[in-house]
Amino acid sequence: MFSRKNGILFIEDVSTVEIAEKYGTPVYVTSKFQLEKNIEAYKKAFPKAEKLYAVKANGNLALMRIIASNGFGADVFSSGELYLSLLAGFSKQKILFNGNSKSDSEIEMGIQAGVKFSVDSLDELETIRSIAEREGKEIEIAFRINPDIDPKTHPKIATGLKESKFGLPEEQALKAYEMALRMKNVVPKGIHCHIGSQILETSPFISALRKLGKIAKAIEKLGVELDFIDIGGGLGIDYEGKGAITPHDLAKELLPVFEEVSSDLNSDPMLWLEPGRSIVGNTTVLLTRVNAVKRTHRNFVAVDAGFNLLIRPAMYGSYHRVVVANRDGGEEEIYTVVGPICESGDVLARDRKLPKVEKGDLIAILDAGAYGFSMSSQYNGRPRCAEVLVSGSKTALIREPESFGDLVARQRIPEWI
Ligand code: LLP
Repeated sequence: MFSRKNGILFIEDVSTVEIAEKYGTPVYVTSKFQLEKNIEAYKKAFPKAEKLYAVKANGNLALMRIIASNGFGADVFSSGELYLSLLAGFSKQKILFNGNSKSDSEIEMGIQAGVKFSVDSLDELETIRSIAEREGKEIEIAFRINPDIDPKTHPKIATGLKESKFGLPEEQALKAYEMALRMKNVVPKGIHCHIGSQILETSPFISALRKLGKIAKAIEKLGVELDFIDIGGGLGIDYEGKGAITPHDLAKELLPVFEEVSSDLNSDPMLWLEPGRSIVGNTTVLLTRVNAVKRTHRNFVAVDAGFNLLIRPAMYGSYHRVVVANRDGGEEEIYTVVGPICESGDVLARDRKLPKVEKGDLIAILDAGAYGFSMSSQYNGRPRCAEVLVSGSKTALIREPESFGDLVARQRIPEWI
């Protein structure tokens, strides 16, 4: 995906300097080649599994359309993500509506669309039942189980520990399936968990699968016929350039355990996965222009993108590699790359060795395709930036940059002030 020509960083066959000139900065730039490579890796590693793309990682329609056209389904966490998925062309049979706090109107939209639900509470089960009855629909569901497993990742993105807000504890699973079995408009067909994100070991996934397998056996005895066992997403990517497990590595360990677990069941469930970050994370860079270099107790490089566009470093202390895009080599110095936001926490990268940086240089922040644009905001009155797709020597604007008009588009000033 990357190369250097005369020191300039290229994404596929396009110069980042030209992209910045044509589309302005900051700008998110995605490689179609890398996206397809990641999709292919999952298809090859898990040919028989249903792969649901976690839309929260990146909700750009062009990227979602590429993912949908490769036969993936979608994991959606809100009615907005459901809307995007249907628009992008994901088949409703392959959409799972996740979420721990779905509103009645979101549930209604999911039921009308005919998608499947991962149910997070008994209250939600009853809401689904009553809306499905009113709509005259039969809805296939899974319950989200909290398997109480440590995914060994950042605490803010660990979701399957006992104290987490997500899912039902194992002890409540049987009762939940029993209740669902007695309902007319609800059919329990699956079992689901998602233990966390940016996971760099296979063992937590294996433990989660074994836990679900154990519960699956117990609920089969109640009369549940299982169509799917969904172990969620969470496979980490190589942010630091030190190597990470791949879908292939995960499949090698997970699939034999899946065979073992399913051979112990009467039904013949399919394995479901919900990758987000490992599909889109490394496909995209955030290109940002240096507004100023300041030498105080640190060498600060002040760029035009901040946590308004990439909140991960500020929110989780995440590491993203940073490179100077418009030239290479020469004398190096240690720099801290900061954004334009009026907060001390607006640091994108701390103490990095980079070729000597000057005002006007272009900086590329790598691996920004997952939870980058999708977590962006207009904080400090900054319209969101553009997104560009690269394929070979072609480029296309896949999201127009916002304008000042977007800052005020939905605001109203009451006439009585
Ligand atoms: N399935 C469910 C139910 C999820 O909640 C998530 C992510 C995924 C799948 C996809 O996980 P992935 O394969 O992307 O790890 N904003 C954080 C990550 C939050 C993840 C939330 N749930 C970050 O920037 O690291």
